[in-house]
Amino acid sequence: MSSGKYKPSFPRVAQLKTAEQFQHHLSEEGIDLPFAENLIAGLESPFAKGHLLRSGNRIGNAFCILPMEGWDGTTDGKPTELTKRRWGNFARSGAKLLWGCEAVAVRHDGRANPNQLLMNEANLSDFASLFQLIQEEHRTEFGKTDDLLTGLQLTHSGRFCKPNSKNQMEPKILYHHPILDKKFGLKEDYPLFTDAEIDELVEDYVKAAVLAQKAGFQFLDIKHCHGYLGHEFLSAYEREGKYGKSMENRSRFLREITAGINTEAPGLEIGVRLSVFDWVPFQKGPEEKGVPSANGHYPFAFGGDESGTNENLSESFEFLEELKKLGIELLCTTAGSPYYNPHIQRPALFPPSDGYLPPEDPLHGVARQIRVTGEVKAAFPEFYVVGSAYSYLQEWLPNVAQEVLQTGKADSIGLGRMVLSYPEMPVDILAGNGLKRQKICRTFSDCTTAPRNGIVSGCFPLDPFYKNMPEHSQLKSLKEI
Ligand SMILES: Cc1cc2nc3c(=O)[nH]c(=O)nc-3n(C[C@H](O)[C@H](O)[C@H](O)COP(=O)(O)O)c2cc1C
Ligand code: SF4
Repeated sequence: MSSGKYKPSFPRVAQLKTAEQFQHHLSEEGIDLPFAENLIAGLESPFAKGHLLRSGNRIGNAFCILPMEGWDGTTDGKPTELTKRRWGNFARSGAKLLWGCEAVAVRHDGRANPNQLLMNEANLSDFASLFQLIQEEHRTEFGKTDDLLTGLQLTHSGRFCKPNSKNQMEPKILYHHPILDKKFGLKEDYPLFTDAEIDELVEDYVKAAVLAQKAGFQFLDIKHCHGYLGHEFLSAYEREGKYGKSMENRSRFLREITAGINTEAPGLEIGVRLSVFDWVPFQKGPEEKGVPSANGHYPFAFGGDESGTNENLSESFEFLEELKKLGIELLCTTAGSPYYNPHIQRPALFPPSDGYLPPEDPLHGVARQIRVTGEVKAAFPEFYVVGSAYSYLQEWLPNVAQEVLQTGKADSIGLGRMVLSYPEMPVDILAGNGLKRQKICRTFSDCTTAPRNGIVSGCFPLDPFYKNMPEHSQLKSLKEI
């Protein structure tokens, strides 16, 4: 699908040039978004507010860099110069919480692509160097690191594993999903991940956690989002055995990993990135617009109601109660999956090559995540809550985000795509510098289209470094098809 042929039926954010125009559009569309008219810079800014976690770990301000893979590790799972460049940018962004910094597999068969980073004994010194790189870059830029908190996101990609070839999925599934099995060509007799195999995997998570602590990372995210394995447990309503059906069983995976980490890596803080709600998978409908793949009863949306296109947070709240019992304080909210309903996960004007045209003004997607995150924060004030999906706000990101913080709808503003195109946005907002318009992410989705086609990820349209790479021409020709 070429973005060149496509004329969106809603105004582009860049065309909403004044606060009045932006707010007028919101009210016409019936989109409810918090909005601060006056931005506050400096120490009084809500963005400058720090936080001391119960563990004693300190977070120096209310900006967080969300995890983002670059599909650019070596085939044995070590970082490359591209990985280091991205992590260096994260460290110099001005954010004091680095959540991730990207998904790192705990073992080879769980990698989402053959270039995903892999935490094992052989790669320990590389991860230690990555952590040091972050510390040094941050210290050089800001003079200190005692208020910078850096975690590693641990994952197994479950249904979306591609460990050996960019073109070959090698899924590990917890249950047969009628729509996703069909979409990804899995037969009825495709084997399920057994309970015994899951027990081994828990050990691998704990081993990876011990190594992450040795490498210097201060916390670990046990990823429970975006359709990957941790998230799939939460909708394993029909799975037999100790990991399926009841909430107690579906949250066992997290509990076992947490118990292992507490024993083997004491002092290592644990966080969870959670798809707080999910919807039915979407597919291309008339005029390539996204439509639900099934209408009527859809029972697999964790945090969703049975229509498949609405939230019902009762189960999400039950799961959050489990987190609370485990003493977890760090929570990063997100939604859905980039593989089957990207418009609710990362609202964008232009879809990635395997996506569909947005079925709604993407500002609805932003507002939905902000609203749900606010509901989570209101129900669980004890969590330090990081929200996601702000990049589509573009020029108006600071106004919306500041109001979110001031009204207590989240504790920290997570930035994803925006830091690929504009890494120093947090510095500029904190200093009241005004935004550099030419660097604002316009959600062209090239950073998703590229890896979907076997190319490294990066901001090809706006970051001069990626713009000048030979892969940029490859990507342009792909988009013309
Ligand atoms: C290129 C790319 C890679 C991503 N990789 C990860 C990842 O490794 N782990 C994760 O939890 N989310 C990942 N995400 C999702 C982002 O963290 C974030 O939730 C999403 O982009 C929405 O935030 P935004 O609107 O600020 O971009 C990725 C997103 C993009 C665009
Ligand atoms: S490629 Fe650049 S402009 Fe496009 S979505 Fe990604 S970060 Fe934004």
